[in-house]
Amino acid sequence: MRHHHLVQTKEKKGIIFDLDGVLVFTDQYHYLAWKQLADELGVYFDEKINNRLRGVSRMDSLEIILERYQGEPLNQVQKSELAEKKNEIYRNMLQQMRPANVSAEVRSCLKELRRRGFRLAIGSSSKNAKLILEKVDLLGAFQAISDGTNINQSKPSPEVFLKAAEFLRLEPEECYVVEDAKVGIDAAKAGGMIGIGIGDAATYEKADMKVNSFSEILSVI
Ligand code: BG6
Ligand code: MG
Repeated sequence: MRHHHLVQTKEKKGIIFDLDGVLVFTDQYHYLAWKQLADELGVYFDEKINNRLRGVSRMDSLEIILERYQGEPLNQVQKSELAEKKNEIYRNMLQQMRPANVSAEVRSCLKELRRRGFRLAIGSSSKNAKLILEKVDLLGAFQAISDGTNINQSKPSPEVFLKAAEFLRLEPEECYVVEDAKVGIDAAKAGGMIGIGIGDAATYEKADMKVNSFSEILSVI
């Protein structure tokens, strides 16, 4: 008998969603808050640099911002203070968030995915994920939440998604990941999941699937 090298593709039972830039456009608030901090530090910052912050933890994001910093070297205490300052600006912006900030398209699509039997989870690097989900009334839409409070390594490490799969009681191979960050697609693939790119990641060559709108997810899975 001939030996075939079959790729085992497991039936998909779960979908893990990144939060910022996928379900809600808090990526704009992140940008504005970092911009404010960068201006105070006299550091150049633009949308292109901002794209490198997608999916990256708060402290790692600060390091990227500081690549162009020309002042006296900063110690860890000063860096923590800067990150805290940005987070305060950001959290003040989050106070404006309302259920209306989640599109009808996103809500109905999540509902349809549940109807099709998928288990849904959040896989976000943010420590503010639960606050955001609460503000926009999405907490009840997910069976599991894996976020910046339960991980040690930021994307592209697959940790946040592996935890999400575990919380859903699924194997990584049984999960799709929906991401707007290139590092998020890298993280999904490193974890053995299928990476669906949206937004900034919709043009990423490493994405297994690419969608131009949220509802397009329904036709690619
Ligand atoms: C990710 C964002 O979701 O969360 C990043 O894409 C952000 O830009 C990261 O830095 C951490 O967010 P927070 O809310 O913990 O500062
Ligand atoms: Mg994102």
